[in-house]
Amino acid sequence: MADGFFHSVVPEGETDYADIDTSVAHIARVYDYWLGGKDNFAPDREAGDEAIAAYPQLVSSVRANRAFLARTVRHLAGEARLRQFLDIGTGIPTASNTHEVAQGIAPESRIVYADNDPMVLAHARALLRSTPEGRTAYLDADVRDPGAIVSAAADVLDFSQPVAVMLVAVLHFVSDEEDPAGIVHRLMADLPPGSSLTISHVPSDMHASAMKDMGDRLNRLLAQRSTYRSKEQVTRFFNGLDLVPPGVVPIQEWRPATAAEASAAAAMWGGVGLKP
Ligand SMILES: C[S@@+](CC[C@H](N)C(=O)[O-])C[C@H]1O[C@@H](n2cnc3c(N)ncnc32)[C@H](O)[C@@H]1O
Repeated sequence: MADGFFHSVVPEGETDYADIDTSVAHIARVYDYWLGGKDNFAPDREAGDEAIAAYPQLVSSVRANRAFLARTVRHLAGEARLRQFLDIGTGIPTASNTHEVAQGIAPESRIVYADNDPMVLAHARALLRSTPEGRTAYLDADVRDPGAIVSAAADVLDFSQPVAVMLVAVLHFVSDEEDPAGIVHRLMADLPPGSSLTISHVPSDMHASAMKDMGDRLNRLLAQRSTYRSKEQVTRFFNGLDLVPPGVVPIQEWRPATAAEASAAAAMWGGVGLKP
């Protein structure tokens, strides 16, 4: 069992649904529905199906996003030898969570998760099953408040050592007015050389008409509004970092491990940058 610390994590054996608004779709639960999970309600499934109607390859795309996340963590824990991960916009626990992949390679890895959805909080205990050598922790926190995340994460992560920041399928929930580039900058600013940034992001310029239709439907049905972005806009989030080859690409083309991964139908830009 983990020594994950955060006070707001629900005690063992209890799942607290008190704060969960089931009357309107929430992205964490809709994403769980697309992944075949059970932590979703009728409005989540309705929104999920509306999105699939706009982009029928969506379930494949979401699975490809999970595969991208796992490959980037494998690369960062393996080749890049990173031992600390800050995974923001974690999602409801599923297969191959960041700590499982990282600690499978280096058991001493430390992982801090952060999400602002009460359903993720209700299941956070599953994210805290650390190896005895490592640590995991969960923050009930909002990516739009990066200063609060960095200061709370400092209880577990040593910010004098490299940290892998993961913003996987979350930045499109930050509007332009909320300054996503400023958030990324704040998260990366104090990290030492060798730290990394992983991003995946729903595109505005790939399968453009399907993405527009999907975005309109989800913005009508979801509690969280999204802003899809172009390859150029996503690439700009990596300003000041060295992009790991092959750069910002469709996620299935980011170092696929198998032919099936490489040929998966997907619509997301993804990339990894290293701080020089
Ligand atoms: C599409 S899921 C992605 C989950 C996981 N990162 C993945 O790629 O498999 C997006 C997650 O981001 C979280 N999220 C959305 N807006 C957020 C915010 N402002 N602050 C923190 N988390 C947020 C949602 O609650 C959800 O769990």
